[in-house]
Amino acid sequence: MTIPPADASEDTTLADDPAKPALVIITGATGGIGLALAERLARPGLHIGLVGRDKDGLARAAAAVEARGGRAISSRIDITTPAFEHWLDTVSERFTLSALYANAGLSAGPASPRELESAADTERLVRTNLLGTINSVRAVAERMRAQSRAPAPMRRIGIVASVAGLLPTPDLAVYSATKAGLIAYAHGVRPRLKRNGISVTVLCPAFVTSPMSARHQGAKPFEISADKAAIKMVRAVEAGRRTAVFPLPFALLAYLAPFGPGWLVDALVPTFHAEIQPDPRVEPGFSQRLDRPRAESDETD
Ligand SMILES: NC(=O)c1ccc[n+]([C@@H]2O[C@H](COP(=O)([O-])OP(=O)(O)OC[C@H]3O[C@@H](n4cnc5c(N)ncnc54)[C@H](OP(=O)(O)O)[C@@H]3O)[C@@H](O)[C@H]2O)c1
Repeated sequence: MTIPPADASEDTTLADDPAKPALVIITGATGGIGLALAERLARPGLHIGLVGRDKDGLARAAAAVEARGGRAISSRIDITTPAFEHWLDTVSERFTLSALYANAGLSAGPASPRELESAADTERLVRTNLLGTINSVRAVAERMRAQSRAPAPMRRIGIVASVAGLLPTPDLAVYSATKAGLIAYAHGVRPRLKRNGISVTVLCPAFVTSPMSARHQGAKPFEISADKAAIKMVRAVEAGRRTAVFPLPFALLAYLAPFGPGWLVDALVPTFHAEIQPDPRVEPGFSQRLDRPRAESDETD
């Protein structure tokens, strides 16, 4: 990772210390919603920290940010490793951490409609979607808190959960559980972080066109583009909203489902049947390596 030297054209509007320009961090910026967020957030002079594991995806995201006049700081990091905190220590010396979009995530489903998710997929989903995201949020929030001086602009955290966390389905039971966990975590930490000038928004999209949803073989009602999802997410995070569930039909369903009779909900939910194709990015032999010590750092630039 190479951190560029300071210069006069940096965007300092979001920074409480003019010597430290603002940095907006996006995890999972190598494609899909994360790439769309990078494109949406990029503006002249603003530094965007792009985090993901795929080198080519990071290069694409950096090019998209720079094409809009933004400054990309791309770091090849697996958010489930300590490399993310090491990187944060470096960037928080040079930048004001003004926002985090905790977007990195994985999906997986059972191998057949009669099975449940495998132990390896369960471990992988919980480790990335739940532990990895919670640890990213905690690590960024601690550094935001340490940096903040009064009066300072509000700092923003957006946690990308899913409508599946509100309306779980049999084909995505573990995935849904990880997203429900993120929703609970966001609501839990919000009051405490608000006292430190940090807003927490939990983002619950339904179907969004992306490499992840391309592996979801089944009906995808009201599917929206990654760009449209990014617009809704950025608006909600910048406004400091508690929650954004979209599109509207899913927001209505999610709010009404807890009041409906259980038998009706149980009868309706399986109609969203889908087959989740395996993620080609899952490294072969992952399950055999779960018990090995974690790599210290994958970080390159
Ligand atoms: N698409 C939908 O319909 C939909 C709906 C609701 C919620 N969501 C949520 O939206 C988020 C983005 O999903 P997407 O649809 O854009 O999927 P995607 O195209 O598969 O993107 C997922 C991103 O997460 C990154 N990632 C995964 N594991 C990581 C790790 N350990 N460390 C760092 N980065 C990691 C991936 O990058 P690398 O592979 O380069 O690491 C990739 O950039 C996810 O949290 C997903 O659950 C998606």
